[in-house]
This record gives sequence, structure tokens and C-alpha cells, in this order.
Amino acid sequence: MADRTSLKVLVIGASRGIGLELARQYVGQGWEVHATTRTPDQPGRLGELGLKIHPLDVRDGAQLALLAGSMTGLDLVIHNAGVGRGTSRAEMMAVNADAPIRTVQALLDAGAVSPGGKVVLVTSQLGARRGRVGSLGDYGDSKAALNDEFRRRAADWASRGVLAVVVHPGWVRTDMGGSSAPLGVEESAEGIRRLVAGLTERDHGRFWTWEGREHPW
Ligand SMILES: NC(=O)c1ccc[n+]([C@@H]2O[C@H](COP(=O)([O-])OP(=O)(O)OC[C@H]3O[C@@H](n4cnc5c(N)ncnc54)[C@H](OP(=O)(O)O)[C@@H]3O)[C@@H](O)[C@H]2O)c1
Repeated sequence: MADRTSLKVLVIGASRGIGLELARQYVGQGWEVHATTRTPDQPGRLGELGLKIHPLDVRDGAQLALLAGSMTGLDLVIHNAGVGRGTSRAEMMAVNADAPIRTVQALLDAGAVSPGGKVVLVTSQLGARRGRVGSLGDYGDSKAALNDEFRRRAADWASRGVLAVVVHPGWVRTDMGGSSAPLGVEESAEGIRRLVAGLTERDHGRFWTWEGREHPW
């Protein structure tokens, strides 16, 4: 990571849930935090954290180009934005599978990530095929498609000097995870931060859990 006094992170999809908590914790750790939301005019709790807010609907190519062009020196990118039940299969594919890859690719092509920088794509254990043939359901299929494309691009991303992984954040009490999930956002975000801090080149291109265990594809 770059030799600067404060490290710089971009959290994509930080309006609520796990993304908001990641942003909050990185601010608390003294990082320079950039966070995206679809509603920058109504940032809610994100607006209380003293970080830099950027507008981004991850399906919007023009907004993405503006963001990528405005970023430099990122030590860490976390693509957290995702959709679950209540959205169409097409939206799940666009937000969960296509957008994380396109976003990271745009940031790399724009030279926004520092050499040695880290990239985390938030996936789900429900996207693990574990050798199964056939559909994993719309949500699982979208995360499996993300994992597949991530694996296809991993070697190229490594050659661009970044260390990239996909991460299952646990089953977390958020709007998506529901109230009976066992994990709070604090615990999930702490686990992801610990995992990220310990990542080495050997870990690149792999599927991890918030607890730091490798997950089968
Ligand atoms: N919670 C769990 O148990 C669980 C388990 C496995 C994986 N995950 C994954 O973890 C990530 C975070 O989930 P969460 O539980 O924190 O969900 P959440 O509370 O529903 O929050 C989802 C976040 O994604 C953003 N988002 C959705 N569509 C977007 C778009 N088109 N453009 C930009 N941002 C968009 C939302 O922004 P808005 O406020 O604008 O909608 C919100 O910030 C997701 O990738 C999810 O699939 C969650």
C-alpha cells in the first residue's frame, strides 16, 4: 500500500447496511474515506460521518466514468452494493454481477488504484456452486456470475498490480439479511477489515469469508 499518512478507501454502496458500517469503521481508523450513494442529496447517516460522498448508481456508466476519473491513489476499493429479494432477475444481474466487475475495471483503467492496492467484491455464499449444476435461484445465480467473471479477470487484475478477492460477509442483520440473521453489521465489517488487512499476494483471486476462512467456489 502507498506510503502516506492516511490510507484511502472507496466504499461503493454505503448508504446503509454493511457498506455504511464499513465506511464508519474506516473513518474511525483514520482512513480517508470516499463513499458512494445513489442519494447524495439525502445522505442520511452517511452524511454524519465526515467523509467524502460521491453519487453513484452502479448501473449508470456516465456516473461511473466521472467517479473513476476523479479518483487517484486508492489503497482499497470495496464494492458492496447489492440487491436481493424484491428485485427482478435482470436488476440482480446488473447490480450484483455486472456492476462490481465494470466498476473495478473502470477504476483500474483510470489508474485510480495505487500499485499494491486491494480490491474487495462483496459476494455471497449463496453464489457458491460447489459443483452443483443448474440454477441457484436468481440471487445465487447473480453472485455465482460475479464469482465466475472475477475468476476470469483475476490474472489480468494481478498483472495490473492489485490484490483482489471476493468476500462473503456472513448472514447479517440488514434490510437484505433480515432481523433474524445472527450477525450484526459491526461484527461483519470488523471481520472484513481484519481480512483485508491481512491479505497477501497468495490470497489474490480467492473467495473468503468475513471470518478469514477460504470459501469453496
Ligand atoms: N446481509 C446479508 O446477510 C448478506 C449476505 C451475503 C451477502 N450480502 C451482500 O452484502 C452486500 C451488502 O448487503 P446489505 O445486507 O448491507 O444490503 P442492504 O442493507 O440492502 O444495502 C444494500 C446497499 O446496496 C446499495 N445499492 C443497491 N442497488 C444499488 C445501485 N443500483 N447502485 C448503487 N448502490 C446500490 C444500496 O443503496 P440504496 O440505499 O440506494 O438502495 C445499499 O447501500 C450486498 O452485496 C449483499 O448482496 C449480504
